Amino acid sequence: MTHHVHLGDSGQYFAAAPDQTLLDAGLQAGIALPYGCASGTCGACRCRIRSGSAVEARPNRVLSDAERAAGYALLCQAHAYSDIVLEWQAPAGTPAARPAIWPCRLQERRWLSSDVLEVRLKLPRGDAPFRFLPGQYVDFLLDDGGRRSFSLAAPPTDDTIELHIKITPHGRFGRYIAEQLPDRAMLRFEGPLGAFHLHEAERPTLLVAGGTGFAPIKAMVEDAIQRADQRPMHVFWGARQPEDLYLDALVREWTAHHAHIRYTPVCESVPEDWTGAHGRVHDAVSAHYPDLRGHALYASGPPAMVASIKASALQSGLHPDHLHYDSFDDAHVTWPGTP
Ligand code: FES
Repeated sequence: MTHHVHLGDSGQYFAAAPDQTLLDAGLQAGIALPYGCASGTCGACRCRIRSGSAVEARPNRVLSDAERAAGYALLCQAHAYSDIVLEWQAPAGTPAARPAIWPCRLQERRWLSSDVLEVRLKLPRGDAPFRFLPGQYVDFLLDDGGRRSFSLAAPPTDDTIELHIKITPHGRFGRYIAEQLPDRAMLRFEGPLGAFHLHEAERPTLLVAGGTGFAPIKAMVEDAIQRADQRPMHVFWGARQPEDLYLDALVREWTAHHAHIRYTPVCESVPEDWTGAHGRVHDAVSAHYPDLRGHALYASGPPAMVASIKASALQSGLHPDHLHYDSFDDAHVTWPGTP
């Protein structure tokens, strides 16, 4: 039996058959639902079911018990067993854009550290510029059918996008971009993707990054500064060693000019004169904020880091409605043969 799935109080709804996931049914109906891997591993389609019942096809390890208890489900895994109302907030400011395929041209490459490359790509001029919510990501479409995901590292402009690419010895796409791609070469990407963005809640906000997970956090903070959003923000950036905090000076500049922004760099291996936190980033967050009731938290980075911060933050009283994350799961890395 087909059921109706309502998007909050918006008046929008779509029909979902029992053998369809909510994501498939919504996309088929032309609704721009957020998603990434479509296979239950990234969490980009996480949504709260306000009323009605849905059953997930198979267990996933993305959602914690606290999130499940609060009614969260993965749209790419859940099937409707009754009419459903999803908790649905249209993002304020820039409206959520439907993913599309865009051409772009390599404009500039700049090393931000020994292994992180800033890449700027020029977009075509046109009546409808590429729009996205700071925090979202794009998938590069490769000639052999592979895809490679990168977060957008700056707020929307009319003609460029910025990426931070970690170059590793075995990362074929990164090495290709760094070493072989000719200047002004053309690429194609699909986007915007994902649901990671700064929500409107006016509550003290923690932004927790691991490694190049800093990219979407940077886009969100720069956008908040441009909009004169004055909510208290505390940026935590975790890395192995201080050299890996590849835009540390930029974050310090934010704090120097904006009293509502704080910064705690966190490194696992530190020199004697280190003044930041020592250890793992989720422990630093817990040390600063043993009680997270009344806060919002955004986390972006490798799956292990995001899992740790989720667990500790929920234990510290953070409400799941105010927990948002972007986990760089392996499912995002679809370049064939990439270890
Ligand atoms: Fe559903 Fe990735 S799109 S978990």
